[in-house]
Amino acid sequence: MTTASKTFVAGATGLLGSQIVSALLDKGAPVRALVRPGTEGDKKAALAALEARGLELVEGDVTDPVEKLAAAIGDATTVISAVQGGPELIVDGQVNLVRAAERAGARRFVPSDFAVDITRLEDGDNFMIDWRRQAAAAYDDTSLDVISVLNGAFYEVMIGFMGIVDWEAGTVSHWGDADQPLDITSVADTAAVALDPRAKGTHRFAGEVLSMRQFHQTLERATGRSLALKNLGTADELRAEITRQAAATQNPFDYVGLQYQWCMVTGKAKFDTLDNTKYPQIKPGSLEDFVPGTASNA
Ligand SMILES: NC(=O)c1ccc[n+]([C@@H]2O[C@H](COP(=O)([O-])OP(=O)(O)OC[C@H]3O[C@@H](n4cnc5c(N)ncnc54)[C@H](OP(=O)(O)O)[C@@H]3O)[C@@H](O)[C@H]2O)c1
Repeated sequence: MTTASKTFVAGATGLLGSQIVSALLDKGAPVRALVRPGTEGDKKAALAALEARGLELVEGDVTDPVEKLAAAIGDATTVISAVQGGPELIVDGQVNLVRAAERAGARRFVPSDFAVDITRLEDGDNFMIDWRRQAAAAYDDTSLDVISVLNGAFYEVMIGFMGIVDWEAGTVSHWGDADQPLDITSVADTAAVALDPRAKGTHRFAGEVLSMRQFHQTLERATGRSLALKNLGTADELRAEITRQAAATQNPFDYVGLQYQWCMVTGKAKFDTLDNTKYPQIKPGSLEDFVPGTASNA
């Protein structure tokens, strides 16, 4: 009998990382999660529930010294990063994690990419994606197999964080051409792709490819509500709005949602091809099925 190889997950208390851990446990695979000291409240309770299903926890931080982080990784052969934060984490922390994974003798690294097609963007298009490319350049010499999972935008984010849907006002807002196709995928389907033990290189997976017009129609069908589709301006006007907000705020995360929308509505970060056929076992959930389960669509 062969023993399944262990996966180490950084970011297990997060939106995506928790579902990656859960999907691994569903498969009966051994998984160890890096948890920052002092994790309390809901996150601690969620970890305890995963621990009851077999998750192994180890305290630490991706910015820990390489030796300490390598000891945390231990005998895991795959290291998945689902961390989210600033450049000290996405660039320096992830490079540190790669060095620790090499030291520990791991074989594979999945960086915290999980985005639109980051390979098609240029510096300045989206600062969070710039950091991911900077990290990749810094660990380009690694002996590990690096698997970059690209999923477009999460359904969860299209309906929530991005500020596109206002359930109270009954509006779906968008910039640019309402017929530009966009790649979108649920968090759960993205997590399933991240687990593929045979994967190598960059994988582009979309649960659905929908324009904003189709996104709006899907939301109306799924909720039975009439929602207004509101155009906020052209893609160039969106760029100007990003520049305006960037000059006005101390916090770049204030306008990052607009940067992601710009990358999508211009088609610049659209997947040229999809790797969905490499994952016949993943039957992506549709947006229409997903929407009724979201809490805030009443
Ligand atoms: N394509 C899309 O639409 C989309 C949308 C959202 C996210 N994403 C991507 O998905 C990935 C995960 O994002 P998320 O939204 O799941 O993130 P999240 O919910 O904010 O979770 C971030 C995780 O990183 C951990 N973390 C932060 N700093 C750390 C450190 N120094 N050491 C170790 N762990 C640390 C956090 O731990 P604590 O609990 O201790 O803070 C948490 O577990 C990112 O690459 C993000 O860009 C993609």
